[in-house]
Amino acid sequence: MRRFVFLAGALFFLTGCRVDYPASVLDPAGPVAQAQLKLLALSFLIMAGIATVVLGLLLYAALRFRQKPGDEEDPPASPGVTWVEVLWTAIPLALLLIMAIPTYRTTFYLAKPPTGNPLPVEVVAHQFWWEFRYPDQGIITANELHIPVGRPVEMKVRSADVVHSFWIPRLGGKLDAAPGRTNRFWLQADEPGAYPGVCAQLCGAGHAQMHLVVQAQTEADFYQWVQAMKAPYRSPTDTLALAGEAVFAKSCQGCHAIGGSPYKGRVGPDLTAFHLRTTLGAGLVKNTPENLIRWIEDPLAMKYGVLMPSGKRDLNLSDAEIQALVAFLEGKP
Ligand code: CUA
Repeated sequence: MRRFVFLAGALFFLTGCRVDYPASVLDPAGPVAQAQLKLLALSFLIMAGIATVVLGLLLYAALRFRQKPGDEEDPPASPGVTWVEVLWTAIPLALLLIMAIPTYRTTFYLAKPPTGNPLPVEVVAHQFWWEFRYPDQGIITANELHIPVGRPVEMKVRSADVVHSFWIPRLGGKLDAAPGRTNRFWLQADEPGAYPGVCAQLCGAGHAQMHLVVQAQTEADFYQWVQAMKAPYRSPTDTLALAGEAVFAKSCQGCHAIGGSPYKGRVGPDLTAFHLRTTLGAGLVKNTPENLIRWIEDPLAMKYGVLMPSGKRDLNLSDAEIQALVAFLEGKP
């Protein structure tokens, strides 16, 4: 009875493993993730088959050849049987070949985008956020990777500090981001949508909150975003936001850049067209003025290990200065 309760409980918890979870490799949304899932499924099926046969034979032998009451003799030693030896060499060999060929083909398929017009993107992992550079478009953004659907994106992945791992479960990965070397891979989204990603390599205190999101857009929406990112920089006309720009110039530009502006800090995330971001703090919370105030006041209270200084404690910004700064960052040009 106790065993039954345990099994029923285990089954109940397993029902939590749903396929429609937004970050599941079992729900691929592009050719790379599909190829990876196919390989995963093939090796799983083969291993499940081996386990079933081997454990089945073990169970059969244990039950069928039990010591009977009164049977005290050792069984006679059985010499090698040639056909059995051949069989249990040939079957693993065949299974290994069945796995090796698709593995080889998939590895080379994943190494290079298949078509002629891939979009190049450079991914730089930082403690604890992601930088995305578009060399062809001349733009830099952070934590939200915009890509056009149906077009392969060729990525060069590296790190500015320690080893991270770039992973978007529904699109593909994972790929290590290591300092001092560039790793390459590609991915492609078939449908527009937001695909969550994470850092998959323990990289420090803020590792668990090093999220990203891939915004897959139609070609037209993507180029609209590119245009917004490339729009010439203008100081705000609103008085509060203008005061906020002064605060930015005084306290933020050492680390943060805004495209086209005189502010060119490269330590923290690039903040070009920040009002277009859906989240802040690398996927930590929704990008709202309230959250941005909390974040600027004390980022460490919201995220472990964050390297950004506290606006209150470290930079001695007043409430009015933080209000102005938020008006500057969240304001549309
Ligand atoms: Cu970066 Cu974990």
